[in-house]
Amino acid sequence: MPAISASAPGKAILFGEHAVVYGQPAIAVPVTQVRAKVIVQARPDFPAGRVLLQAPEIGLEDILANLPSDDPLASGVKSVFDELGITQPPAMTIRITSTIPVASGLGSGAAVSVAIIRALAEFLGRPLTDVRVSALAYEIEKIHHGTPSGIDNTVVTYAVPVFFRKTGGGEPDHVETLKVSKPFTLVVCDSGIPSPTITTVSDVRQAWQDDQQHFNSLFESVGLIVEQAKRAIEAGKIDRLGPLMDHNQQLLAEMHVSSDELERLIQVARQAGASGAKLSGGGRGGNIIALVEPESAERVSLALSSAGAVNTIVTEINSQFAKN
Ligand code: MEV
Repeated sequence: MPAISASAPGKAILFGEHAVVYGQPAIAVPVTQVRAKVIVQARPDFPAGRVLLQAPEIGLEDILANLPSDDPLASGVKSVFDELGITQPPAMTIRITSTIPVASGLGSGAAVSVAIIRALAEFLGRPLTDVRVSALAYEIEKIHHGTPSGIDNTVVTYAVPVFFRKTGGGEPDHVETLKVSKPFTLVVCDSGIPSPTITTVSDVRQAWQDDQQHFNSLFESVGLIVEQAKRAIEAGKIDRLGPLMDHNQQLLAEMHVSSDELERLIQVARQAGASGAKLSGGGRGGNIIALVEPESAERVSLALSSAGAVNTIVTEINSQFAKN
């Protein structure tokens, strides 16, 4: 049996992080320069039913039965067996690699889950629809991120820019592929400060519980920005996005998810020519994104690197599918 592989891209939230957890819309885009990849290989040389997981980057090599049930990789594998009603899996090796930095807001956990689910379902001869892949990945996100909105697993599964709104109450979420009339360029810059999303999401929840009126109005203001950004992207009016990013950043700072270091990098990006910049994802650390003209991408990247960024990625946002 030939080896089966699948991959999933990283992601960046363009507008609307945190507010999206409270029912406001958000926009996310795939970041195709980084990917999680999974290869599933049949192992006729193994005893029946042995499933070996290998994730060399985190030093993991163990059989499924030895891993705790809340292990993120094991839960991805088990979710597929459960979905397909498989109690006696064929012997196999599942090898997981990823170039997406962890705890940096680029959706590494969601991408790994999606790649595992896709590769394994296909290996078992029963490929799953994108709706099911995303739904299974969401269940795994819930184990590790507390109360995720579902935007990360959605954008990583569909691998296109998405306008997303969590519907709640058991209704399917609103997921719309965003038509990007005119491609635009982002510099995605890693501050190098790890910041697990679960922490910032739970801090925002605490702050919201302490002052619901203030936080609800912050979330509503973010929602209005997202709606304006959607219209601008669809109409190809890219010059409108920079000020909207700056405004979204101010509101994120008011939610206490920015930090001195992120503010400093955002300033550096603006001074080097970005027309707008903001944190992306959970905040406090992780990545910032800056909107640039293609010809100033290198200048902005270099300025950020000189200012201490550990990595920068220049990515073009367009409507093309970024699967595999
Ligand atoms: C994380 O990429 C985006 C957050 O809004 C959390 C979520 O939506 O699950 C911070």
